[in-house]
Amino acid sequence: MNTPIYSRPYPRTLSLGAASVEICPMTAANAGAFGRFIQGMPEHDLLFVRRDIRHPKVIAAWMDALEHRRFVSLAAWEDDAIVGCAAIVVDSLSWSPQVGELRLLVAPTWRGRGLGRALIQESFAVALSLGLEKLTAQMTVDQHAAIALFEELGFRAEAVLRNHVKDREGNAHDMALLSHDVAEVQARMHTYGVQEALDR
Ligand SMILES: CC(C)(COP(=O)(O)OP(=O)(O)OC[C@H]1O[C@@H](n2cnc3c(N)ncnc32)[C@H](O)[C@@H]1OP(=O)(O)O)[C@@H](O)C(=O)NCCC(=O)NCCS
Repeated sequence: MNTPIYSRPYPRTLSLGAASVEICPMTAANAGAFGRFIQGMPEHDLLFVRRDIRHPKVIAAWMDALEHRRFVSLAAWEDDAIVGCAAIVVDSLSWSPQVGELRLLVAPTWRGRGLGRALIQESFAVALSLGLEKLTAQMTVDQHAAIALFEELGFRAEAVLRNHVKDREGNAHDMALLSHDVAEVQARMHTYGVQEALDR
């Protein structure tokens, strides 16, 4: 990832109803705040991430990936607490360097206020500046809010991976794989609210 990542200036303040958050690129210096944010998430909401992100070693690996630009990530801050984050994971040495995996998390107390949608729209802008061609997102099939949100923004189901993840109790869950053509995002910026998000 040697291309400029963020095509526009951060931090930016985003008003969501009566409240506001500050959106900034996440850096390795944010490890502590990110750890506190993750500890506040229900386990079931974390099953879409391949490894248990609550584990300090996994957090350290994420921070290392950020430092070395294998991830790009935006965090939404309320004062000194992270309340949402979006990450795009690209493996530039794989056979799919044109594909980014989008990961999105919003703190339970912040859900339903439009933060998830805003973070996806911001991520679309990042995907465009990275020159990606395709975005994917994975979530357990019972994450109805997440599926509704991603579909509203143009993602479509591409596969269901049966019994793909197991929670700590050993219960298996199916995983939905959704994807979006980034060229289509560019062609339909208004439909997906990206242009409006960029103009905000
Ligand atoms: C998915 C998630 C990020 C959504 O964040 P959010 O900030 O609550 O989302 P928004 O407030 O922007 O919601 C936007 C849209 O999502 C849909 N949505 C949100 N909550 C919903 C719910 N409980 N039921 C159905 N649809 C819902 C609606 O279409 C909503 O649009 P509306 O506000 O016009 O009604 C959040 O629920 C989350 O962190 N979930 C756990 C992690 C996860 O599954 N991530 C996705 C894997 S990449």
